[in-house]
Amino acid sequence: MIIAIDGPAAAGKGTLARRLADHFGFAYLDTGSLYRAVGLAVLRAGKKPDDPNAAQYASLNLDRGLLRDPDLREERTGIAASKVAAMPEVRANLLEFQRNFASQPPGGKPGAVLDGRDVGTVVCPQANLKLFITASPEVRAKRRCLEIQARGHTAEFEEILADVRARDDRDMNRADAPMKPAEDALLLDTSELDIDAVFLRAAALVTERLKPQ
Ligand code: DC
Repeated sequence: MIIAIDGPAAAGKGTLARRLADHFGFAYLDTGSLYRAVGLAVLRAGKKPDDPNAAQYASLNLDRGLLRDPDLREERTGIAASKVAAMPEVRANLLEFQRNFASQPPGGKPGAVLDGRDVGTVVCPQANLKLFITASPEVRAKRRCLEIQARGHTAEFEEILADVRARDDRDMNRADAPMKPAEDALLLDTSELDIDAVFLRAAALVTERLKPQ
């Protein structure tokens, strides 16, 4: 069982994916963390995230240690991730790891939940269930501000909203694997729904797919 959850930044897909994985005993992969690790490696090397050589090197030599680095969740890492993610070579270098994770979930788990931008369209077009989670840019910027403040930092709403919009624009309009719902994806708008309601809806869909045909 492969569950693909795509959507823009801060729409709630990570929280939903983690909860579904916990509930059904599936493995969970946050594919954005791979792009973030590449972006962070480039920044730490003192290079610009839109430097193709630096991004390609970092994606070929993915430093798994960075996946647990506290700076991975920083706003500037997300912006860098979105820039390296526009490069086809970087995407190609990260594809096999994601596909292997989905087809052979670690720990022998009976399924995998992957979240990102192109899981339903490119990484796992054969997924058993595809969800596309959205929310308005304002709602997402508000959530991101609260997250940043919860980590003890200050966050300026207008600045975060501009980052959210710029990231959407880059992620939707790149030539390779742009963020878009797969044709067979179910769309869920979380602007007005809390996480429990979203989880209940999604869990019911997974239960339905798990029933023998
Ligand atoms: O979900 P996130 O904010 O952690 O993702 C960071 C960036 O990585 C996002 O702006 C675009 C890129 N990304 C991608 O291009 N494809 C994915 N499957 C996941 C993330």
